Amino acid sequence: MTIETSDGNNDVATFYNGTGTVPLAGKLRSMWGGNLHLGYWHDTDDDTPPDVATERLTDLVITCLEPKPGQRLLDIGCGVGKPATRLLTTHPVQVVGITISEAQVDQARARAADSGLADRARFEHADAMLMPFPDASFDGAWALESMFHMPDRAQVLAETSRVLRGQSRLAITDFVLRTPLGTAGKAVVDRMCATFGIHSISTLDEYVEQLGAHDFAVTNVRDISDNVLRTGILLADAMESVREQLVANGNATEVDAMINATREFATTAEFGYVIISAVRN
Ligand SMILES: C[S@@+](CC[C@H](N)C(=O)[O-])C[C@H]1O[C@@H](n2cnc3c(N)ncnc32)[C@H](O)[C@@H]1O
Repeated sequence: MTIETSDGNNDVATFYNGTGTVPLAGKLRSMWGGNLHLGYWHDTDDDTPPDVATERLTDLVITCLEPKPGQRLLDIGCGVGKPATRLLTTHPVQVVGITISEAQVDQARARAADSGLADRARFEHADAMLMPFPDASFDGAWALESMFHMPDRAQVLAETSRVLRGQSRLAITDFVLRTPLGTAGKAVVDRMCATFGIHSISTLDEYVEQLGAHDFAVTNVRDISDNVLRTGILLADAMESVREQLVANGNATEVDAMINATREFATTAEFGYVIISAVRN
């Protein structure tokens, strides 16, 4: 089953530019340490703080990417450049990051400059569905929690396939639907999609098939749903702690909807989360 909306990217850009009715992006960044993705916890006794748990997830994805010295890597949906900075700090590679949010480009550039990495980092405002790069111009790519925002995932995979050289690695973290989707589960998934600008979500089987159709051979899939669950609880608690600020600058109904949807994520088995590793044929 695939849930897709026909909306464009406007709501996603507005969300990350911090100009939407819930000015959450900036708050998330300060609460979450710059990574705009979920954290990874080993088990329920693991009480690692979110800024460390999110770096852990970045490191897991870096492992899937198997970066080699000198490679030119594409960061699809780079956020404010925190994962790219981690990659650049730990590996002698070059990174080009793209994001649909103009505001994030400036933040990512500033982060790279502050870390002394600007000579190996480039960030651009670009739509992943229409990448401004020549064919076969990258040695690898990753998409950390960005694919679900894309109005047309097949189009993004076609573009990714086009800009990657043969044998390049692709690493993706994304939500997947775990079926059967009961009525209650479907309602939560719908609420999550509406609240967080999720435009494409599918079962894992459909994902793998779609990758295959775009010249990617999937080499590994790791279901880490249980390891990321804690994010929903911590993030909802964190948002609640600044609720008054969020409401003062935004819309109370939407703020509460976002907090509730975030909390529900942790208890909805139908919402899975995977790391997919693939190689471009
Ligand atoms: C949840 S954030 C993840 C950011 C970053 N990968 C991280 O893990 O910190 C999603 C990112 O995808 C980007 N994005 C969404 N749709 C996009 C599109 N069509 N083209 C490029 N970037 C997009 C957003 O601007 C945002 O940077």
